[in-house]
Amino acid sequence: MSELFSEFSLKNVTLRNRVAVPPMCQYSAVDGFINDWHISHYASLARGGAGLVIVEATAVSPEGRITPACTGLWQDEQIAGMAKVAEQIKAAGAVAGIQIGHAGRKASANRPWQGDDHIDADDERAWQTIAPSALAFGANLPRVPKAMTLDDIERVKQDFVAAAVRAKQAGFEWLELHFAHGYLAQNFYSPYSNQRDDNYGGDLAGRSRFLLETLAAVRAVWPQQLPLTVRFGVIEYDGDDERMLAESVQTVKQFKALGADFVSVSIGFNTPTANIPWGPAFLAPVAERIRNEAELPVATAWGVDTPRLANDCVVNQQLDLVMIGRAHLSNPHWSYRAAQELGIEDPAWVLPAPYAHWLSRYKPATDA
Ligand SMILES: Cc1cc2nc3c(=O)[nH]c(=O)nc-3n(C[C@H](O)[C@H](O)[C@H](O)COP(=O)(O)O)c2cc1C
Repeated sequence: MSELFSEFSLKNVTLRNRVAVPPMCQYSAVDGFINDWHISHYASLARGGAGLVIVEATAVSPEGRITPACTGLWQDEQIAGMAKVAEQIKAAGAVAGIQIGHAGRKASANRPWQGDDHIDADDERAWQTIAPSALAFGANLPRVPKAMTLDDIERVKQDFVAAAVRAKQAGFEWLELHFAHGYLAQNFYSPYSNQRDDNYGGDLAGRSRFLLETLAAVRAVWPQQLPLTVRFGVIEYDGDDERMLAESVQTVKQFKALGADFVSVSIGFNTPTANIPWGPAFLAPVAERIRNEAELPVATAWGVDTPRLANDCVVNQQLDLVMIGRAHLSNPHWSYRAAQELGIEDPAWVLPAPYAHWLSRYKPATDA
């Protein structure tokens, strides 16, 4: 039995295996509403056999979208569409997760394939971005955000709470707070973007306050028996990594004390000058450190995409779940391929019966 295909339980939720699809924006929504693209996309990923499918970064407010085409849960009318997505994922035997977030100073951007840069300020599609301080990211995202007032901070926390309630009403069973990738929570956490001189800036306690208060407020409304998780940029790769990692371990311990059940370990992406050591499973040792020192189950993504590598990360107790992103866009049936390569008995049965029955007897033709 491969460890990758062993079950994983957290709170009242059991995943059929340790393959997870991380959130991946489709940039295909209109006014935050999902459509047929999202329903078939997420259904096909779940039918491919993964244990957990996490729906893309879904904005808690219109200003929190990365692009005008991002999904949202800022109004009740958006629940019904998301409920269809959750239903499709669950009908295929996967656990339905969703990531909620606010894009902070990286909001108001064009789709990746339409420039990946800030929309021109005089374009009617653009909107005012907000962040802890009036400091731009730079590079392709040069717009200077408005520094948030204390009222803004309170409002955004309540937006997270309301979106969490809607995610529950839509039927999701796994909630991930987006505290990574240079978006709003990471903007608070990082000295690159947070130069506030009030309670929400300065030392680690100040810079992590928005994250901790948001987490606590969401925990109060998200059911205790369901996993509340955080995707957290624990490292920037800017040369100051040991300091940041040590702080991140402390912060994850506080997440845990406030009721977080799991951390998806990721990168800060809060400065364009980082020097990221891309390579196979390069974040796995970082995730392992968070797992051991903060004593929470963890996952990571970023190039863990061969079955052997993914399985090894579980066997070596670096990761509890393995996030397989782009490899799922390449092949939504990645789990089937993994089951074949890892020698699972009758691997086709990681797929639903209408596929598995046929594939378990199927011998593909080979070229002479
Ligand atoms: C198309 C696309 C959209 C993404 N959208 C999100 C997102 O909504 N939220 C998030 O936290 N990460 C997002 N990411 C990052 C992925 O979750 C993942 O970390 C990344 O693809 C690296 O994993 P991989 O090497 O397995 O692809 C996105 C990545 C891609 C390729």
